[in-house]
Amino acid sequence: MGVPVRHFDAVIVGAGGAGMRAALQLSEAGLKTAVLSKVFPTRSHTVAAQGGVSASLGNSEEDHWHWHMYDTVKGSDWLGDQDAIEFMCREAPKVVTELEHFGMPFDRNADGSIYQRPFGGHMSNFGEKPVRRACAAADRTGHAMLHALYQRNVRANTHFFVEWMALDLVRDADGNVQGVVAMEMETSEIVVFQAKATLFATGGAGRIFSSSTNAFINTGDGLGMAARAGIPLEDMEFWQFHPTGVAGAGVLITEGVRGEGGILRNSEGERFMERYAPNAKDLASRDVVSRAMVTEINEGRGCGPNKDHVLLDITHLDPEVIMSKLPGIREISIKFAGVDPIKAPIPVVPTCHYQMGGIPTNYHGEVIVDSKPVSGFYAAGECACASVHGANRLGTNSLLDLLVFGKSSANSMIEFIRKQPLELPELATADVERSVARVARLDNQKNGVQVNDARVAMQRTMQNHCGVFRFKDMLAEGVSKILEVEKMVQQTEISDKSKVFNTARIEALELENLIEVAKATMISANARTESRGAHVRDDAPDTAETPNGRDDANWLKHTLWSRDGNRLDYKPVNLKPLSVDTIALKTRSY
Ligand code: FUM
Repeated sequence: MGVPVRHFDAVIVGAGGAGMRAALQLSEAGLKTAVLSKVFPTRSHTVAAQGGVSASLGNSEEDHWHWHMYDTVKGSDWLGDQDAIEFMCREAPKVVTELEHFGMPFDRNADGSIYQRPFGGHMSNFGEKPVRRACAAADRTGHAMLHALYQRNVRANTHFFVEWMALDLVRDADGNVQGVVAMEMETSEIVVFQAKATLFATGGAGRIFSSSTNAFINTGDGLGMAARAGIPLEDMEFWQFHPTGVAGAGVLITEGVRGEGGILRNSEGERFMERYAPNAKDLASRDVVSRAMVTEINEGRGCGPNKDHVLLDITHLDPEVIMSKLPGIREISIKFAGVDPIKAPIPVVPTCHYQMGGIPTNYHGEVIVDSKPVSGFYAAGECACASVHGANRLGTNSLLDLLVFGKSSANSMIEFIRKQPLELPELATADVERSVARVARLDNQKNGVQVNDARVAMQRTMQNHCGVFRFKDMLAEGVSKILEVEKMVQQTEISDKSKVFNTARIEALELENLIEVAKATMISANARTESRGAHVRDDAPDTAETPNGRDDANWLKHTLWSRDGNRLDYKPVNLKPLSVDTIALKTRSY
């Protein structure tokens, strides 16, 4: 075969919060664990998470995991699996306290307990009023978390492979996962990382859209690899648009700004969220706030010369609060909008932020296909669909998801690895050869399509045809267009074929992953003919049986898109929690 092979107990692709939490668990259990990352671990996209991690610690006021569970089910518009949601909300205080003991520098209350702020959709007493549940390190929570986890991993002897890109999953003839094929980015050397257990923690794929809060590295690598290896992708029609991206730049302004008292205003200076969510107002869940903002803009109440954004106003806050609790967003606002938020409001628009769907797993992190675990394969974090976020994620539940499912998948891997024979099995080479051929195709392509042209075509198609509001004809046209873009991607050519720091080659390989995510999204969105959570269609009728367009009789089910023939299958939502009663279906309002 001619490709070198390295051997480990566990291989993890991705060094964000989920990958590093899992690696820590595995390394501390004495297992030889490799972590592959396209960037230095502390530059993974978790670093950009700002506002907090949710846990019902009740440090400032009464709180309970069951209230957190209720909010998460309601936030998901009942598409989340209630066993996984109960598991996550019950585990939250434990994993946050562990993180504190790992050295995470949380902000503190006067009594020394972790500082908590309110966040959208997090309420006390089953939806009564906003509650302080987001545990925060100023507006740099993800940054602080990654550094704490990285340092613990160094101490635990985790093997980091920095600037390595995983190319493909390796499965044997029975479908068991044996590891990954990967490329060292600087040299183009291809190596197989063979392991008893493989975890994908590759993060999101927000770069399928033109406007995104996501880093350039968020190219859906895990999803692309899974799809090529025959694993279906779940609920890919559900994408979260964060209400407050800096207008024109897309950079995130944390929801924590509204948690600290920030107010959204239209061109008339009106606090318009009072009309859309009379109870929660600016702290309604993200899908609700983003739609309200787009409606204001579409109805002519947008701000600025082009009336294309609204304003996030914190000029009424004490500058001391802004300097101590929101220093990062002040810096972002000055740099990207040219506005000091102490003196003037920040121009904001909804921007693609998070994928609710992903690689189907249970709450143990095992990848599930046809109701059975795929032997040796696990996924956690944004690339996975457990499914705790359903049709719409609540802010701060993403950092929680990383910790809870990073840890639980590692525990499942430890149990699995300990049952395996000491020696690794013979490596199956068919997938390795296919992966090597995929890279060779790029090098041999003549008179092809420029990577940038294909990527821009994909991003424009997704932005125009599959945004905050979705339209029947636009979705149908979007499917044809994205399949045309796929043909462009199959003919991409790299102009710079030098093998030293081969950015062009890496970007072409990333695009091959992005296009799988884009197809899954467009095809799944076109098929789901209801409105639910972040997926809102103009043709979904609002009737007594289908309030706000949500059609539980026909669509209370998960989508499964398979690459082979772009096939769609469906599976039921798990409405049965682990220990409490089902959170019963209701019409959602805030
Ligand atoms: O608004 C924010 O700070 C983002 C948090 C999240 O996406 O969970």
